[in-house]
Amino acid sequence: MTRKGKVTVVGAGFYGSTTAQRLAEYDIFDEVVLTDIVEGKPEGLALDINQSRPIEGFETLVTGQSTGPGGEGYEAIAGSSVVIVTAGLPRKPGMSRMDLIGVNAKIVRSVAENVVKHAPDAVLIVVSNPLDEMTALAAKVTGFPATRVLGQAGMLDTARFSYFVAEKLGVPVGSVQTLTLGSHGDTMVPVPSACTVDGKPLGGLLSQDEIDALVDRTRNGGAEIVALLKTGSAYYAPSAAAARMARAVAEDSGQVLPVCAWVDGEYGISGVYLGVEAEIGASGVRSVVQRDLTDTELAGLREAAEAVRAKQADVASL
Ligand code: NAI
Ligand code: 2OP
Repeated sequence: MTRKGKVTVVGAGFYGSTTAQRLAEYDIFDEVVLTDIVEGKPEGLALDINQSRPIEGFETLVTGQSTGPGGEGYEAIAGSSVVIVTAGLPRKPGMSRMDLIGVNAKIVRSVAENVVKHAPDAVLIVVSNPLDEMTALAAKVTGFPATRVLGQAGMLDTARFSYFVAEKLGVPVGSVQTLTLGSHGDTMVPVPSACTVDGKPLGGLLSQDEIDALVDRTRNGGAEIVALLKTGSAYYAPSAAAARMARAVAEDSGQVLPVCAWVDGEYGISGVYLGVEAEIGASGVRSVVQRDLTDTELAGLREAAEAVRAKQADVASL
């Protein structure tokens, strides 16, 4: 097995630590770096993951590094081809992702400034919420080409939609294909016209009311888990999504994945970070992939673009 390269996860909370574990267990990287501002937290978690290596049988080294207010410790991320930003507060029950905007903008800004200094060639994958706004902010602060900064949301929302369809029909998740576009929030756009089960259109298997209920549950998929957990938000499915995105970059795979990407004319929308399908490679987004949408789906996507455009403009001053 050939291992190569280094990937960094900033933020060693639930999302960050599970992402680091998944990346390490792929056993394709030389090193996974995990950082956090809480002294000892990334070091302790890295030590724990490393001690799982003899059991799980992977050789990727996990390095934990705490960082200081002046950026001390960030030297550890040098040479990373991918940096995943999970630093930031999660929601509490009753909060919207947008309620996190002020505090998380300050955190994402400081992380982005350090990434520019220490890993200026990395592809940046943002997961901190509110996702579409934090992705736009990270792109602005780094000054990286827009295609080198992307956000994770669409893979998670799509996976939730697929799971709900599979659960409803009692079929394997692997037989289900679904898609969500738009924002990681109220203007999420689940795309029933792109959904199939064993290649058959979803519309032939469920009534419109049943599909609408699954769409609704998908749109509220994050809040459903926050309400059950009472403290913190989801991280198993979210970390699976971010780790797969990082892997697609590291392997220059050309996979088409639903991600938050810079949209420049596609679907008649320009100048905004939005959930779309994109071909992912070593330099981030190779291209945004368009598909045929129904008039309602297209209208929903354009509405989502305008909603996040307004917020993305505000966030630059935070
Ligand atoms: P958590 O509270 O478990 O972990 C957050 C970590 O960030 C903490 O360890 C904290 O010390 C660290 N942190 C804070 N400021 C930092 C800084 N300046 N530099 C480095 N680390 C810093 O939260 P969790 O569950 O890991 O979630 C992290 C973020 O991901 C939240 O904003 C959450 O809303 C978001 N999220 C996004 C999803 C998506 O689909 N895009 C899905 C799930 C969560
Ligand atoms: C989620 O969708 C909270 O954004 C997070 O689970």
